Amino acid sequence: MRVAIFSVKPYDKEYLEKMNEPFQHELTFFEARLSAETVSLASGFEAVCPFVNDQLDAPILKTLAQNGTRLLALRSAGFNHVDLKAAEANGLTVARVPAYSPYAIAEHTVGLMLDLNRNIHRAYNRVREGNFSLDGLMGFDMNGKTVGIVGTGKIGAIVANILKGFGCQLLAYDPYPNSDCIALGVRYTSLETLYKDADIITLHCPLTPDSRHLIDDQAIAQMKDSVMLINTSRGAVVDTSAVIAGLKSGKIGYLGLDVYEEEADLFFEDLSNRVIQDDLFLRLLTFPNVIITGHQAFFTHEAIAHIAHTTLKNIQDFEQGSLATENRVLPEEKLAVSHG
Ligand code: NAI
Repeated sequence: MRVAIFSVKPYDKEYLEKMNEPFQHELTFFEARLSAETVSLASGFEAVCPFVNDQLDAPILKTLAQNGTRLLALRSAGFNHVDLKAAEANGLTVARVPAYSPYAIAEHTVGLMLDLNRNIHRAYNRVREGNFSLDGLMGFDMNGKTVGIVGTGKIGAIVANILKGFGCQLLAYDPYPNSDCIALGVRYTSLETLYKDADIITLHCPLTPDSRHLIDDQAIAQMKDSVMLINTSRGAVVDTSAVIAGLKSGKIGYLGLDVYEEEADLFFEDLSNRVIQDDLFLRLLTFPNVIITGHQAFFTHEAIAHIAHTTLKNIQDFEQGSLATENRVLPEEKLAVSHG
């Protein structure tokens, strides 16, 4: 199949070309992000292969369909950037990579927790400057701390497993409790109890209308003083302004982000020679107790290889009429039915 691949970085090209040998799709790579300005590049391609910050709103999907596209083969697990209703209305099938390496994201999540707790980011800079003072670097034992996990799907469940090894007490909130987590000793509870009792809160739910700004002023007010908040799910699950207020008041003692609400204008690009215009983002960078990584939690060899292989296989399966149900994304109401 002829495939137009957008937002291509050198590593995407390398892995997709390598993995394409058995599939023999006709791949065309575009560094540009898919947008109103670039959508014409996809003209005549039956499959379009976007990444997380490509624009997939109703007008773009309509143009893609009018120009011959039938499949959106997402190189991601998350699909919040796709207007699924518009995709369906325009006869576009949407495929994703549901689980490429949940370990990659879970391990990065725990990495952020340890880094924040033990001030490794600050120690790194101090030692390089010959400053071996420990003042301000004191951490806490993870052992015995209560961690609240919001969303215990594939990633949240692995986070629970890792933290169990540290001897943490595990609370979780998820509308669909995971039996593996229950067996591990995770206690499902209301969001209110989780906010009240957790020393560390980590977010692993998808971005949906329900979870948008889940962490807002009201949620933060219910949390323990000096709570640690980690978000490696999607930026808009957190209200950035509320979190900044929480950091200023000391309510939030540690913040680890791999995703950011307005990341589409920032992440995955080298902006080191430009003036960043996003004042909220710049404010976040000024706090000593905040670590931000640029949506890199997924970025391991295993995950990139898996994403490339599954994406190409999804395209082949679509061509042959055998796209796996779990790799197909349906509009919300259909998902809800299939979930239940
Ligand atoms: P999953 O679909 O296996 O699990 C998501 C869980 O969240 C499900 O158990 C679901 O019932 C639960 N959930 C849904 N709405 C919720 C809500 N309002 N509150 C609490 N729980 C809710 O997804 P997986 O693979 O574990 O991924 C989770 C999220 O992580 C993805 O949706 C994606 O946004 C993000 N992600 C981030 C990456 C990164 O590089 N930073 C890479 C891959 C995924």
